[in-house]
Amino acid sequence: MDIVPLGPGFAAELRGVTLADIAADDAAYAAARAAFEQHSVLVFRDQQVTDEGQLAFSRRFGPPEVTKVGSLGTGSHFVILSTIGPDGKVVPPDHRYALRNKANQLWHTDSSFKRVPALTSVLSARIIPARGGETEFVSTRLAFERLDPGSRKKLENSFAWHDYAHSRGQIAADLANPEERAALPPQCWRMVWKNPVNGRSALYLASHAYAVEGMEASAGKKLIDELMDLATAPGTSYVHEWKSGDVVMWDNRATMHRGRPWLAHEARFMVRTTISATEADGLAAMRPPTWQAAE
Ligand code: OGA
Ligand code: MN
Repeated sequence: MDIVPLGPGFAAELRGVTLADIAADDAAYAAARAAFEQHSVLVFRDQQVTDEGQLAFSRRFGPPEVTKVGSLGTGSHFVILSTIGPDGKVVPPDHRYALRNKANQLWHTDSSFKRVPALTSVLSARIIPARGGETEFVSTRLAFERLDPGSRKKLENSFAWHDYAHSRGQIAADLANPEERAALPPQCWRMVWKNPVNGRSALYLASHAYAVEGMEASAGKKLIDELMDLATAPGTSYVHEWKSGDVVMWDNRATMHRGRPWLAHEARFMVRTTISATEADGLAAMRPPTWQAAE
């Protein structure tokens, strides 16, 4: 297995290894896992991807999420990002499917609005547009390391609130439907996620974050906006240009990502599996002191 660095200080392509190798072989998994902890975004090219193969690979990293209500793939282990309607035609730009893709074009980390946040997401390209539709990544670990020591210390002891309805509300007032709102109450997380393997800390931010615990609403929002700007500063991103057979996985604890636009009449079909964070991934320290386990 060769590790080829891709981005500005993070992201790497793994060559000479397939998803199936990693699913089947402990040593291959250990090497991929070490690369994941270090590089935060891993790219695999020329893979023969099936839903089952993607899930078997993903399961190596932890328990797969069950897709929430209101998403394509609900109740399964797959999130389908598609612009193809039930009639086989590309949906119009104001269709829910298209608006969901638009919401994914806001900088975010996956599942910070869930009761159990995500360790990693694994995304495979099944149908890609001729141009555009890239996925762009930044390292919130490198962003944290750009902060002065005083700000780092303060943020390590700060907590932010994340709400799915907040990020969706930036696209359309009713994009999060009542069922989704009821299933996904706001969650509060420490603003810095420390990686237990290498001890490196990362800002934990997303378009879902709307308030800072103990701060007046507008001051908290301003802090979040400033940190989002810092984390997504020009020249700090890796832009993944999708080719057929590509699979990309990322560390939701240490990155943000966003989809890039493409021409609305072109089809795009992507399949995501998402792995929940566990205590071994540093989850316990993310919870606010007031956190209580569900009954
Ligand atoms: C995702 C996501 C962006 C894209 O799958 O979590 O945000 O480019 N995707 O489709
Ligand atoms: Mn996402």
